Amino acid sequence: MGLKHPRISTSGNQLLSQAKTAKQDEFYTQLNDISNELRHYREQLRGKTILCNCDDPYESNFFKYFALNFNTLGLQKLIATSYAKSPIAGGYLPLLDIEGLKPEGREPYAIEINEVPDHNGDGATDLTDVEYLLRHDANTAKPLRGDSEYGAGDFRSYECVEYLRQADVVATNPPFSLFREYVAQLVKHDKKFIIIGNKNALTYKDTFKFVKENKIWTGVRSFSGGMWFVADYMGKYEKVVDGVKLINVPAIWLTNMDNPKRHEKIPLYKRYLPDEYPTYDNYDAIEVGKTAEIPVDYDGAMGVPITFLDKYNPEQFEILGITDRDNNSGVKTKEYTEADAQNPGDLNRRGVILVNGEYKSTYARLIIRRKV
Ligand SMILES: C[S@@+](CC[C@H](N)C(=O)[O-])C[C@H]1O[C@@H](n2cnc3c(N)ncnc32)[C@H](O)[C@@H]1O
Repeated sequence: MGLKHPRISTSGNQLLSQAKTAKQDEFYTQLNDISNELRHYREQLRGKTILCNCDDPYESNFFKYFALNFNTLGLQKLIATSYAKSPIAGGYLPLLDIEGLKPEGREPYAIEINEVPDHNGDGATDLTDVEYLLRHDANTAKPLRGDSEYGAGDFRSYECVEYLRQADVVATNPPFSLFREYVAQLVKHDKKFIIIGNKNALTYKDTFKFVKENKIWTGVRSFSGGMWFVADYMGKYEKVVDGVKLINVPAIWLTNMDNPKRHEKIPLYKRYLPDEYPTYDNYDAIEVGKTAEIPVDYDGAMGVPITFLDKYNPEQFEILGITDRDNNSGVKTKEYTEADAQNPGDLNRRGVILVNGEYKSTYARLIIRRKV
């Protein structure tokens, strides 16, 4: 197999900034958050092979959730792969805190589970049964070697892509710094997924394309408040609960699996009045500052806050685009030049309204239209 991305030599500064970026990727999902979201997809998980491909099985609550619920969910197989360069490889969040169980050193590995038998005979499967399996079934753990392009356990490495091919559903919290690539790989391989991402990720050009095409949407958990993650052992943290250091991140669930929220209609109560909803100077659309105030009787294009996606029901609305530099919505009517303003670029990436004859750019907006 030929190299697709030849290695590029890296300067000291680049290495430092890569290390900084990697550091920002180190926070770990709490079990409660996983079970609260995943319960909405139970039927869609039955009989499926699940892959957690950014998850050290000994540290990850995604692995723990699926291993513990393997029989209840009726899973066919669970695969988890760990990543060579993770600073926690070596054990700072010991999920299975059992002397001698964790493979020594920092070598990444894959764990495959095809069944969780009730070894201790207590009538239920729990962590001790998973532990028994990991200890006694030599076939469950396999070292990962990586390839010449990517490090061992990198989700893009050939051997991890092989696991991806086997999977029906991918569930994880991937590194935010590689989010675009991560999602593009899932879409390319046509996989079902339920993952965690940063709210901003939705507006990245490459990811937004999938939002617009209804290939990715938000999970059931609301956007507000962010999510609390277990902080890296050396990283900053904002509070400590039961001795666990936590950090708040503006994170949301993203998926392409159906969920009940996606079918809830936004209750609309306001009627369109031209005075209350200014028309943009540069879009054939009106400005709607709050999702709850979308007029019930307006048939044209409307600019709404990005948080609209938290309430989006594709049977009620269609997404035309996002205010951006290009005309991805098809309703942009004007490009400003230096003759119009000192910084025309700032105006061109936003919806602009005229206030007392002055151009005023709005926040980033989605351009949507009501479906009739
Ligand atoms: C935000 S953390 C989440 C960890 C775990 N999935 C969880 O939810 O607790 C992202 C993880 O991806 C790992 N990672 C970073 N780059 C990766 C890559 N290229 N391939 C696979 N995993 C990677 C990091 O080491 C880190 O453990």
